Order: sequence, then structure tokens, then C-alpha cells
Amino acid sequence: MKMKYPHTKWTYLQIPFEYLTTTSVRSSAWWHRACCFIVFITCGLAIYSIFRNLSNGIVMNEYAFDGQCSLQLVESIPVGLNYSENSPKFLSTYNAWGILINFTEESLNIGSFYWTMLGADVIEHPSAVLGENIYEAIKAKGANHNITIRIAQSEPTAISNNSDTEILQQMGAAEVRSVNFTRLLDGGVLHTKLWVVDNKHFYVGSANMDWRSLTQVKELGVLGINCKTLSEDFMKIFNEYWYLGSQTANIPKKWPKEYSTNFNFANPIIVNSRSNNLHAVVSSSPPPLTSDGRVDDLECILKTINDAKSFVYIAVMDYYPLIMYTESMRYWPFIDDALRKVAIENKVKIKLLISWWRYSSKSENYFLKSLTDLTKSLKGVDIQVRRFIVPINKDQLKIPHSRVNHNKYMVTDNAAYIGTSNWSGDYFIDTAGIGLYLQTVNNSSSATDIREQLLGVFNRDWYSPYAVNT
Ligand SMILES: *[C@@H]1O[C@H](CO)[C@@H](O)[C@H](O)[C@H]1NC(C)=O
Ligand SMILES: *[C@@H]1O[C@H](CO)[C@@H](O)[C@H](O)[C@H]1NC(C)=O
Ligand SMILES: *[C@@H]1O[C@H](CO)[C@@H](O)[C@H](O)[C@H]1NC(C)=O
Ligand SMILES: *[C@@H]1O[C@H](CO)[C@@H](O)[C@H](O)[C@H]1NC(C)=O
Ligand SMILES: *[C@@H]1O[C@H](CO)[C@@H](O)[C@H](O)[C@H]1NC(C)=O
Ligand SMILES: *[C@@H]1O[C@H](CO)[C@@H](O)[C@H](O)[C@H]1NC(C)=O
Ligand SMILES: *[C@@H]1O[C@H](CO)[C@@H](O)[C@H](O)[C@H]1NC(C)=O
Ligand SMILES: *[C@@H]1O[C@H](CO)[C@@H](O)[C@H](O)[C@H]1NC(C)=O
Repeated sequence: MKMKYPHTKWTYLQIPFEYLTTTSVRSSAWWHRACCFIVFITCGLAIYSIFRNLSNGIVMNEYAFDGQCSLQLVESIPVGLNYSENSPKFLSTYNAWGILINFTEESLNIGSFYWTMLGADVIEHPSAVLGENIYEAIKAKGANHNITIRIAQSEPTAISNNSDTEILQQMGAAEVRSVNFTRLLDGGVLHTKLWVVDNKHFYVGSANMDWRSLTQVKELGVLGINCKTLSEDFMKIFNEYWYLGSQTANIPKKWPKEYSTNFNFANPIIVNSRSNNLHAVVSSSPPPLTSDGRVDDLECILKTINDAKSFVYIAVMDYYPLIMYTESMRYWPFIDDALRKVAIENKVKIKLLISWWRYSSKSENYFLKSLTDLTKSLKGVDIQVRRFIVPINKDQLKIPHSRVNHNKYMVTDNAAYIGTSNWSGDYFIDTAGIGLYLQTVNNSSSATDIREQLLGVFNRDWYSPYAVNT
């Protein structure tokens, strides 16, 4: 994919620090700025022209490098879902969250939908213990008064009263704010699943603050360690939720500058993850929460699809070209159109791995079939669908809303996208979610990168006995 580099105003504050000094003092924004400032005054345009030559005429003016950032995929594999021995394996969501809690020295910020971390919140079951462990660990961290825990959650409902977070708040272990999307946008929820620790470590993915998300629901996310630039960018979105969680807040017509970002497709964050370089972009939905510079989540998904050269593989829980939760149902064609277009015009091969569980609706089949019907309509058009069914036994049947493939991601020949939203219109209109776009650049190493790992996850699932043709 061809990236556009902005040739606009040169801001000395954001010259990649690595190009100016070989010392490794880059942990604080203050040093970064001070050092760049000195360099600017003393060397001025001389540095500018050297830098210009170094970068082959590309003025990499607003780049930020996440120099020591380590990204990895994390998954929850429901108990009793067995893969063959040589299948790709990743860190568990449980361990990823444990690491984030253990790493917390100053702040833990969680953007969440609802909280049911205890067996008692749903149904007592031995497999709830992992959720309870995480909850207790958060509680213990919160008891340390040097540490600030903030939780932004969707407004509690009768079904999910979020008593877990109420307890944390009453103990003084966490500050909790509820965001009422009914009041703010006349519908929708805060559906994000985001953790940010000390402004430098994060988790983003499909896992809710729910014990079932650790043992009974299949989840996929990304753990970032020492990713300061990415984490700070995520924090701008968390801070929006935090702001909107105050009783009287309204969505501003224009978000103030502190919520805006410099990082988007014209100017991605460059992650030096182990040996691979990645371009990273954080996207957000819904549009009323899009601050200046921020990529809208739907735009991110469409760009990832449109930029594919040979394949787009999608694994999402639900896929509907509809807005379903408004009073009258509406047709919502944007993702569907993009898939048809790249399949027809560019002969991009498309696979959709969509979930099937106890609560699935038959109507979803029709929309999926209308896509697969295009296969062979013209030479090279190939759209396939499989439904992923998490096996369920008698004991597990007792656990409501469990045993489902809840992950939401897409992998193409050149990029990975990991999100928090189901693919129906509602999630991109009034519901808050986050996407992380990652593209490998300058691949000079033999290390497998995160896109290839995600492709491994997709293929593992697609060719597993749990994926069935419709
Ligand atoms: C990729 O490599 C080119 C040429 O070696 C270099 O100019 C560019 O800065 C590199 N980009 C990244 C993101 O490392
Ligand atoms: C997975 O393996 C476990 C342990 O061998 C077994 O009890 C379980 O039935 C298996 N699950 C399925 C769906 O076959
Ligand atoms: C977190 O720290 C505790 C106590 O030191 C340790 O027992 C646990 O294994 C750690 N968890 C992770 C995931 O590293
Ligand atoms: C809190 O911070 C102070 C000052 O840095 C330190 O002396 C104290 O040990 C810390 N307390 C805990 C519980 O970590
Ligand atoms: C939440 O609901 C549970 C039962 O579903 C109840 O035991 C608990 O007291 C409720 N908590 C609050 C804070 O309303
Ligand atoms: C959320 O806002 C709506 C509309 O203003 C209101 O009816 C509802 O009671 C609010 N929810 C809660 C839990 O406060
Ligand atoms: C989306 O995901 C939730 C679980 O997170 C599920 O309950 C819901 O039915 C899904 N589908 C749609 C179309 O909203
Ligand atoms: C990166 O290079 C290695 C070794 O040359 C190769 O195995 C791998 O597939 C490459 N990855 C990408 C994303 O091109």
C-alpha cells in the first residue's frame, strides 16, 4: 500500500527522536521536547536538510516511533475447544490481564461495556475462578493509594447492574463513571474493551470484563508492552469516555484539542516491534466521538478491505448489512458494498468466518448467502462463508450467553485489523468501539509478524472441525 507522507508544516517537536540522538533518553515527553528544541535552535534548517536527505526526500515530520514497543496477540480459548497439537498458540487473555495488573505502578484505566467478573454475577461455576482472580487483583492494586484506577463503563442496566464496579468504588479502590449513550446519542452503548496501564501498556480486543470471557467465550485481542505512543493515543479515546461519564456532559460539537490526534493513515505510528516495523493506526467509533485527526472505525475497516491485493479474511461474531436496534430496521450497505466491490473488481478472495450459537438468528444466513452467491458469477470471484460453532456440553449449557466465537478481526495480504465491534451498522453509528490497524513495513527479518500470526489464527479456525460450511 502506498502511504502518503504529509509535506506540510515542519514541527520540530515531532522529529523522530532516534534520528537526532543515539542516547536512549526518550521515556519522557518532557525530555523529548526539550532535546528536540535544543537541536532545533542550534542546528535549525541544517538538520532539516540532512534529515530530508536521510529520508529519501520524505519529510517525516510528524512521525512518532514506539521504539521499544512489543505487541502480541492474546486469546481466550473456551475450555473443551481442542485444536490439533501444532496449532498456533498465544498468551491467554487471563495472563495478559495479570501482566497488566502486575505492571501497574501509577494508573490503570479500563474502558468497558459491563462487569460480571464473579460467578455470583451470572451463575456459580468452577470456571468463574479466573475472573474472580482478576477482580481480586484489581481490588488489591486499588488498595494501594499510589495507584489510580479509573473505570469507564456503559450505563448499568437491570440485566447487568455492574455491582462489581460499584463495590470497587465504594471501597475507594477505583473511580467509576457510567456513560449513558441513551442520553447522549439516543441509543447505543459503550462497547469498547480497553485497558491502559501507566500510559505505556495496553490491551484492546473483544474480551469483556466478564469471567466467561476468560474461560467460556472465544476472544482475541492485542497486548502492548512499553508502547508509549500507542497507549497515549488510546488514552485520548478513554479520556473522551471519562469526560462523557460525568452526569452533565454532552458530546461537544468539536472535541477540544487535547482529544485530537496526529496519528492516522497519512501519519501512522511506527512501531518497532522486536524485529519488524509496523505502521499502526488507532480508530474509533461512533463518528460523534471522532476528534480531529482520528480515523473513524468504519473508515478503517473500509480502507483495510479496499487496500487488499489478493485476500480479505474476516472473523467476526455477527455480520449484518443492517441497522438493527433502531425502531424500524434500516439497510446499511457500506461494508457489504466494499466486499462485493473488491471481489468483483480486484478478484480479491474473501472468507468470512461468522459465529453460530444458541442465540443466532436465521436471518443472518440470507445476507451471508447473498455474498457467497457471487462466487463464480464472474471469473475469479470467490467469496466463502463458514460458521464457527464453539462446542457445548450439558454442563456448559447452564452458563447463559457463553460458548461463542466473540472475536472481531480481519487479516489481508498486507494488514491486520483487530476491533471490538460486531459488523452491523449499529456499532458504527451510536456505539463506542475501537480498532487497531497494523501493517508490516520494511520487513527485513525472519521473525513472524503480527499479521502473519493473525493469518495463522484465521487458518487454524477456518480449517478446524468447528468451522462448518453453510
Ligand atoms: C524503510 O526503509 C526505507 C529505506 O531503507 C527508509 O527510508 C524508511 O525510513 C524505513 N521506514 C521505516 C518505517 O522504518
Ligand atoms: C477436548 O478435550 C477434552 C480433554 O481431552 C475432552 O474432555 C473434551 O470432550 C474435548 N472436546 C471436544 C469438543 O471434543
Ligand atoms: C503477577 O504477580 C503475582 C505475584 O507476584 C504472580 O503470582 C503472578 O504469577 C503474576 N502474574 C502474571 C500473569 O505474571
Ligand atoms: C507510595 O509512594 C511512596 C512515595 O513514592 C512510597 O514511599 C510508598 O512506599 C508507596 N506506597 C506503596 C504502598 O507502594
Ligand atoms: C445487582 O443484582 C444482584 C442480583 O442480580 C444483586 O444481588 C445485587 O445486590 C445488585 N447490586 C446492586 C448494586 O444493585
Ligand atoms: C440514561 O438516560 C436516559 C435518557 O435520558 C434515562 O431515561 C435513563 O434513566 C438513563 N439511565 C440511567 C441508568 O440513568
Ligand atoms: C454482537 O455481540 C453481542 C455480544 O457481545 C451479542 O450478544 C449480539 O447479539 C451480537 N450481534 C448483534 C447483531 O448485535
Ligand atoms: C518477512 O520476511 C520473512 C523472511 O524473509 C518472511 O518469512 C515473512 O513472510 C515476511 N513477512 C512479511 C509480512 O512479508
